[in-house]
Amino acid sequence: MKKNTGVSTKCVHSGELKDIQYKGATSPLFPSTAYDFIDVDNDKYPRYFNTPNQLALSKKIADLENCESALLFSSGLAAIFSSMFSFIKSGDHVIFQSSIYGGTLNLVDKEFKKFNIEYTLIDSFDINNYEDAIKPNTKIIFIESPSNPLLKVIDLEAIGNISKKYNLISIIDNTFASPINQNPADFGIDIIIHSATKYLGGHSDILAGALASTKSNIEKIVKSSINYGGNLSEYTVWLLERSIKTLSLRVKKHNDNALAVSNFLLNHKKVKSVHYPGLESHPDHELSSRQMNGYGGMLSFELSNLDEAILFTRKIKLIKSAMSLGGVESTICSPTLTSHSKISKEERENLGIFDGLLRFSVGIEDPKDIINDLSQAFDEL
Ligand SMILES: Cc1ncc(COP(=O)(O)O)c(C=O)c1O
Repeated sequence: MKKNTGVSTKCVHSGELKDIQYKGATSPLFPSTAYDFIDVDNDKYPRYFNTPNQLALSKKIADLENCESALLFSSGLAAIFSSMFSFIKSGDHVIFQSSIYGGTLNLVDKEFKKFNIEYTLIDSFDINNYEDAIKPNTKIIFIESPSNPLLKVIDLEAIGNISKKYNLISIIDNTFASPINQNPADFGIDIIIHSATKYLGGHSDILAGALASTKSNIEKIVKSSINYGGNLSEYTVWLLERSIKTLSLRVKKHNDNALAVSNFLLNHKKVKSVHYPGLESHPDHELSSRQMNGYGGMLSFELSNLDEAILFTRKIKLIKSAMSLGGVESTICSPTLTSHSKISKEERENLGIFDGLLRFSVGIEDPKDIINDLSQAFDEL
């Protein structure tokens, strides 16, 4: 694809395979696990990340993230694990933003000790705190922006600069933004990760992960990851390629709907606060406008207490009460009962996560129907 190709065109056409035999319009699916043997270094095998459908979709994701290369994994967490463990060894140290996906924190909490890997969690978005945490054995800075569930935003360029200054690898979980709303490589971030289960898949029916980076980083990650065995099956690769064709359309609709919904919530008397980077009242609105192309489909809002939040999730009719996010359907959940249930109320409150908070993945339905559903649920409180 030419460098100035539009993002919607990339979604549809980047990397697509040609159906030479029948001239069909879509990429054919090659499910083979055995290919003509050339030599041991050039053998095609799904676990080596080098089969035709994997390479085709990796090209699409790399193009969408303005990166040289990409890889696909069986889950977002497999992409997160493989990215980090390709660069660290026993005795190394990793810096994490503390408000990242709970599963990533769990991986760190449960597995790092076994391998004698040190880590520091940074409970702040102030860049100085990240620089201050760097030690001689630090190898990676891992961030997520916008963050879960308060949609706080970190300065990507500043993190990219610190990483370069100290020769560290910067990794971002870009799941909430999607490559349509944010391209962290443009700001100097080294590795961009997606739980493709969310916006890339978009229909709540695919479990997958992806990461994008430079060719040389990808070569290193492949070398380790063929030993971890976390590649994505060819069938799911093919489905994911089909999903991404509509990514740009979907994400633009998610963005518009989330802004409309946040404005509605902002003016509702039963809502204590609304967290959405697209609102001018959001503390990181200016930074988001600088580094994002759209503000995303995720928001959160606060009701008076947990009982009210639970009642609200029982009264919604069109919107589903579900933990996952990024699907075409609107879903809502309580961080206290889901992503942050394993930490104490006091720790949650220190992070600004109060029991009345609800996280909302705004879908692509008509905004008036989403708002009507919220309205009738508020009337029941
Ligand atoms: C922001 C974020 N990153 C990573 C993951 C992990 O992805 P997966 O469930 O595809 O392994 C999730 C899952 O919810 C997520 O929300």
